[in-house]
Amino acid sequence: MHFPSPPSPDYDFRPPEDWSEFTEVVSLAYGGYDHSPEHRATAAELLEPKRSLLACTAGRPCATLAGYSLDMTLPGTGPRPVLGLGYIAVSPAHRRRGLMRELIRRTLADLHTTRAEPVAVLNSTEPDIYGRFGFGAASHAVSLAIPVEARELTEMPAGDGPPLTLEVASPAESEAAVAAVCRAGLAERPGTLRREGAWLRRSLADPPADRGGAGRLLCMLATDGTAVRGYALYRLTAGWTRSYPRFTVSVRELCATDPAAYAFLWRALLDVDLGGTVVAEARPVDDPVLALLADPRSAAPTVRDQLYARAVDVDRALAGRGYAAEAELVLEVSDPLCPWNEGRWRLITGPAGADCVRTHAAADLALTARELGAVLLGGGSFAQLALAGRVTELRPGAVRAATVAFRHDPAPYCPVVF
Ligand SMILES: CC(C)(COP(=O)(O)OP(=O)(O)OC[C@H]1O[C@@H](n2cnc3c(N)ncnc32)[C@H](O)[C@@H]1OP(=O)(O)O)[C@@H](O)C(=O)NCCC(=O)NCCS
Repeated sequence: MHFPSPPSPDYDFRPPEDWSEFTEVVSLAYGGYDHSPEHRATAAELLEPKRSLLACTAGRPCATLAGYSLDMTLPGTGPRPVLGLGYIAVSPAHRRRGLMRELIRRTLADLHTTRAEPVAVLNSTEPDIYGRFGFGAASHAVSLAIPVEARELTEMPAGDGPPLTLEVASPAESEAAVAAVCRAGLAERPGTLRREGAWLRRSLADPPADRGGAGRLLCMLATDGTAVRGYALYRLTAGWTRSYPRFTVSVRELCATDPAAYAFLWRALLDVDLGGTVVAEARPVDDPVLALLADPRSAAPTVRDQLYARAVDVDRALAGRGYAAEAELVLEVSDPLCPWNEGRWRLITGPAGADCVRTHAAADLALTARELGAVLLGGGSFAQLALAGRVTELRPGAVRAATVAFRHDPAPYCPVVF
């Protein structure tokens, strides 16, 4: 692996005072767009200066990295602390001088030294940026566009609960109900984030300047008289085809506590008055709607990479999640950016938990930190990575054992971009 020399001493690194030190670099790096005042206020509220980093030259910020203290569900566990990285941006005049690499290196080294979060996660603008830093594509999302002629659902699960009714409210009015549904589903799917306070408000935010010509954000609630059992955040964009209304229904989020509420909400979205194509840009790859639609092919599901994950400390990251099967594996890890991870680790997994310690025993599998990141949330497959030549099997049967132990149902997915 090629490692350029660290950035020149003209740069110094320090935590930001507040969000105002991010704005110019972020705006320049992301194409000169200025965020709306609402967006800036939320970004300022969410920024954790002590966990974030700036590179400066002559006293002026020229590169940024925001660190967020998140609680994320890992395979087989409830929410666990992870560090979310966001707003990794370098001013155009300072790009390709190693500033992004140095911001990430310092952040990971600090997490290791302080024994803070054992896992770091991020969303990436482009898929080939972060592999070199040991981040692997750990969750995927599927985009769907369900045309009018493919609205039919095969089943409507009845469920045991009382009959459901539909309410449509503003996101602000729905905040408590959305929070309750999110909480109820928190432990189920790896990648799910605990969302309270500012993170929840951000998920419900709808600044008029960011609507891009669409209507305002609405919230469908599936209620049974005593409890809200699901919600869908969506908006309509007006459109007409040969004088017929074909408004695009864009689904931002849909979450339900049980199959009946889930199907009920999809049914409601597919039946919206004036509705044309129902578009959902990012759904879990195993979203039940793909099994509910009579004609899923028409929805043209397209898979894309979503969350990138990294083991900050191999032992703590691997011991901190659950596994689907018992296995004993010696992993030979290559990790030049985080040299404390290099070498062999014995991982013993079982339903009660896992143990991961250094070993001199012969390795069963050889891989880099990037591959470990890809399987960390239970989504990636050792078998697939081995077939792609990215994991080397050194003991027959080790790939199969690792694939079964690391995989998790349901698949990881994160509805939040941070
Ligand atoms: C992406 C960005 C942060 C890179 O910053 P940078 O300081 O120029 O990156 P570095 O000089 O540290 O580059 C480190 C390595 O990443 C590679 N790299 C940088 N940007 C890349 C990109 N967009 N695609 C692929 N590789 C990239 C470099 O070529 C270098 O490769 P090497 O390991 O072979 O030497 C910067 O170009 C930027 O701000 N882009 C716009 C905003 C953005 O997309 N941010 C990412 C948010 S997730």
